Amino acid sequence: MFICICKGIKESDVRELGQAGVTCPIKLADALELNDKRQCCGRCIKKISKFVALAEEETSCRHIPMVS
Ligand code: FES
Repeated sequence: MFICICKGIKESDVRELGQAGVTCPIKLADALELNDKRQCCGRCIKKISKFVALAEEETSCRHIPMVS
């Protein structure tokens, strides 16, 4: 599912960055090129916390202990 139309960013793109350990808002914005004022409407950089939350879901999922 696309979450950024301007850059064609999919939810899976952000999850992959989270899996790679990229959860810092500045690093996420850089990796996704959301500071590009010529090609971005600015909506996503204002809502970067949603991208961070999505990326962090991936890091937290990896640390859930298996219950047997
Ligand atoms: S929709 Fe993401 S920057 Fe415009």
